[in-house]
Amino acid sequence: MRGILLAGGTGSRLWPLTLTVSKQLMPIYDKPMVYYPLSTLMMAGITEVLIVTTRQDQEQFQRLLGDGSQWGMHLEYAVQERPEGIAQALLLAAPFIGDQPVALILGDNIFHGNGLGTRLAENKGLSGARIFAYPVADPSQLGVVEFDEYGKVISIEEKPQQPKSRYAVPGLYFYDHEVVDIAKALRPSTRGELEITAVNETYLRLGALQVTVLDRGAAWLDTGTFEALVQASEYVRVVEQRQGFKIGCVEEVAWRMDLIDDAQLRTLAGPLLKSGYGAYLLDLLDRPDGPHDVAGRRTRAAAGNRL
Ligand code: TTP
Repeated sequence: MRGILLAGGTGSRLWPLTLTVSKQLMPIYDKPMVYYPLSTLMMAGITEVLIVTTRQDQEQFQRLLGDGSQWGMHLEYAVQERPEGIAQALLLAAPFIGDQPVALILGDNIFHGNGLGTRLAENKGLSGARIFAYPVADPSQLGVVEFDEYGKVISIEEKPQQPKSRYAVPGLYFYDHEVVDIAKALRPSTRGELEITAVNETYLRLGALQVTVLDRGAAWLDTGTFEALVQASEYVRVVEQRQGFKIGCVEEVAWRMDLIDDAQLRTLAGPLLKSGYGAYLLDLLDRPDGPHDVAGRRTRAAAGNRL
C-alpha cells in the first residue's frame, strides 16, 4: 500500500505564524508536526510515501525528511501549485498510486491510541474505501457521517450548517486504486475545491464505503488553529512525560517496525543528544520492553501500537 501525506494548504487560520513557515513544520511539543502523520502511516505498515507540499515549502520538507532511507522508508515529493482541495492530491499522486491501494493522511492530523497501529495495518488488502468516524463536540467545520439505527451509514456531508450527528471524519482515508478514476470525475465544489467528502460519497453510493468508529480510547487531534496547536502540544507533553514513551517519534516507529536495526537507531540518536531526544532513542535499546526482552520483537511491535 502507498501513502500520501498532504502538507500543502495555506494555513490561513494560523497567520501570521504560517506566513513564511508551513503549518506542517510547526512544532507540536518536541517534534515538527509532520512527524505525527508520517509515523501513523508507518504504523499502518506503509513505507512508500508521497509528500505533497506547496512549491515554496518543498525544500524545507526535503531538508527535514530527506528520501526517508535513514528510517527505512522511501519518500517522494510532489508540488500542489494551489490549495484546490484535498482530493486534488489524489490526481497529483496518480502515477505514484498506480494500481496499488493508498492511504491519504492530512499533515495536520494527529492520531494516538492503543491498538491503532494494528487496526490501520488491517487495511492492506482493501477493496473499496475505509474512513473513520470520531465523536466531537462541534462537527460543523468537518465532514460529518450520519448513521441509521443499525449503524449503517446514510450520508456524509462536508461542513454542514446543521450536522446530522456528532461523528466527524478524521483526516485519514484508505482507498483502493479506483480512487484515481473517482477523483478524475470530480468537479470543484462551490468553494472551488475538489472535496474529499465527494470521493467518500461516491464510494458510499457504490456500496463500497466502510466507516469505522474510533472508540474513546483513541485520540484524534487536528492542529489548524492557535488553540488546537497549543492543545496538541500540551497533550503530547503530558502523555509523553507520564508514560515515558514518545508519540509520533519516527525513529522509534522505524525501529519497532523493523525498518531499521539497533545500530541504525544509535546512529540517528547521535546528533540529537543535546535536546534529550537522542537520549530517549538510546534508552529504548536498554529498556525492559526493548529487544533484549525474552519476547523480543513481538514486544517491540506491541509497544509500537501505543504510538
Ligand atoms: P485545512 O486545514 O482545511 O486548510 P489549510 O491547511 O490551508 O489551513 P487554513 O484553513 O487555516 O487556511 O487543510 C487540511 C490539511 O490538508 C492540511 O494539512 C493542509 C492540507 N491541504 C493541502 O495540502 N492542500 C489543499 O488544497 C487543502 C485544502 C488542504
